[in-house]
Amino acid sequence: MVVQSILWQDNQVVLLDQTQLPENEVYLQISDYRELADAIKKLKVRGAPAIGISAALGVCLGAQKINTQNYQEFKTQIDAVIEDLAATRPTAVNLFWALDRMRKIIDAGSDGDVDLLKHRLLQEALSVQESDKKMCRQIGEHGANLLSDGDRVLTHCNAGALATGGIGTALGVIYVAQAQGKRIRVFADETRPLLQGARLTTWELQKADIDVTLICDNMAAVVMQKGWIDCVIVGADRIARNGDTANKIGTYNLAVLAKYHQIPFYVAAPSSTIDLSIGGGSAIPIEQREPEEIIFGFGRQTAPREVKVFNPAFDITPAELITAIVTEKGIIYPPFNFVV
Ligand code: MRU
Repeated sequence: MVVQSILWQDNQVVLLDQTQLPENEVYLQISDYRELADAIKKLKVRGAPAIGISAALGVCLGAQKINTQNYQEFKTQIDAVIEDLAATRPTAVNLFWALDRMRKIIDAGSDGDVDLLKHRLLQEALSVQESDKKMCRQIGEHGANLLSDGDRVLTHCNAGALATGGIGTALGVIYVAQAQGKRIRVFADETRPLLQGARLTTWELQKADIDVTLICDNMAAVVMQKGWIDCVIVGADRIARNGDTANKIGTYNLAVLAKYHQIPFYVAAPSSTIDLSIGGGSAIPIEQREPEEIIFGFGRQTAPREVKVFNPAFDITPAELITAIVTEKGIIYPPFNFVV
């Protein structure tokens, strides 16, 4: 069975702490929105759709603690909560998409009835989660048509159940194909520097009984050269109108390698990941993370303390390297031109 990493329970957000996987399966019970914002920043919850869902639930945590029946006072305070949550991670557009949905509920006002408004906010956050679950299933069903029995799929980072409200996007495709009786083998990139592939994807796939082989990121070329990879499937953090795709750092490397080896390169993502306000990839903000993630990568010093470090969390894969984008609506082939 696939895991559920985010739950709303007893007026708290329950999160599977992904920084502790695969060693410890620890669930955090969060009742303060600031703690939730911190969990997003520190990647205790991560993956574009999961960030959006938890931020929406974070708004509900913030709302719970606001003690006023005055709509204007409530609005001023909840706007500050939304701002804090929006400042956690810049690249995954699902965060801003989910917070916009919450903002619309606030702006609609519920006739100034603050208790009713709090109730509506919770309904909206749960519906963000529920709709993501459905979209994952549909992405899986469309994407499974791209896979045949015996296929070997290379994936990067973690775009699975841990990263979403459902079965995942890239991994959702694999889960559905496997459920259809196709035997799928997965090669998981380790995904330096934070090892989402090694720590999370292999953990999740093993739990679901999917055949998975872990490789270091610098081994992708050789497995392709050996003819061991039939396609690459990755998730996305933001897709521009022209199809340029931001995803975990190292995705672009894979797309270039796939092109050279004539291997299809697929992106699987819900439509909430498409940012219609952005024409091309160069306008997508890329999160820069702390040097410590590289210098103290494995709980010990792995580079000189004062060395200069470049640590972008994401890269942009140009649309021309993408064979198809799978959303809940179907499989979209180039030229990509997502319309407003
Ligand atoms: O930094 P992370 O772990 O949040 O990065 C996650 C990814 O890059 C995923 O591939 C992407 O968010 C899609 S998750 C369905």
